[in-house]
Amino acid sequence: MRLESACDVDLHDGPSPLSVEELKERIAGKEGLICLLTDRIDSAVVDAGLPELKIVANIAVGYDNIDVPAVKSRGVLVTNTPNVLTEATAELTWGLILTLARRIAEGDRLIRRGGWTGWALDFMLGMELRGKQLGIVGRGRIGRAVAARAPAFGMTAVFAKHDMSLDELLVSSDVISIHTPATPETRHLIDRRTLARMKRSALLVNTARGSIIDEDALVWALRERLIAGAALDVFDKEPSVPPGLLSLENVVLAPHLGSATRETRTAMADLAVRNVLEVLAGRAPLTPV
Ligand code: DGY
Repeated sequence: MRLESACDVDLHDGPSPLSVEELKERIAGKEGLICLLTDRIDSAVVDAGLPELKIVANIAVGYDNIDVPAVKSRGVLVTNTPNVLTEATAELTWGLILTLARRIAEGDRLIRRGGWTGWALDFMLGMELRGKQLGIVGRGRIGRAVAARAPAFGMTAVFAKHDMSLDELLVSSDVISIHTPATPETRHLIDRRTLARMKRSALLVNTARGSIIDEDALVWALRERLIAGAALDVFDKEPSVPPGLLSLENVVLAPHLGSATRETRTAMADLAVRNVLEVLAGRAPLTPV
């Protein structure tokens, strides 16, 4: 491994993340930390790494697991892994849209429990994508990569704030896909009020962060049939999933797989390593936050 040929490495490869106490212990004396979105990096952790610590390199484009102002105020750099996971996350988003619109996961469950009695003209009808509007909340790299694939399915993509207001997008879109970062401002952006604005036939997809959707409100909206379905790759308190979602047929659930391809995860790890090596060599990081 390139990192090991350049510096001493203390590797944690256990099945679960280190606790804050373990992190504090292990970070002492280290110049760099490569972490995952399951690691919570706050001021106490960074303080335990001072004065040696120079960089916290997250293997993720999202960095809501890191208290960035606290880290930076201590003179420590933060990096993430943009670009390299854009296409994989866009592909997964389309996988979820198709699975939800054409009821693929629901049909799979039906067959496995022996419930398929045969072809029928009106059996398990879904929603055709052609001619429909895809509303995208978040016009960053991933949102744009999702939009770029829309013409292949005959859909028109529109962006909130750019093409129309969020409210206009909510009332007029057939599929709504979330691609905005998790910030205090976007927490529960999708709540009872915004869900009630959507079409009753609307499908909601989230491959960004779980906190952007108020999950209780989503269960309510799905049960009340205020929207037609939801496909979620992210959850507010991963790996726990609200029980109310588990019993609903019109919900597709994925275990945070957005960037989970061999190619992309390798590129993400590689970028984090390169960021650390640049900083340890006294140069600027490649992808600073
Ligand atoms: C990210 O990079 O933020 C993704 O959620 C990881 O899959």
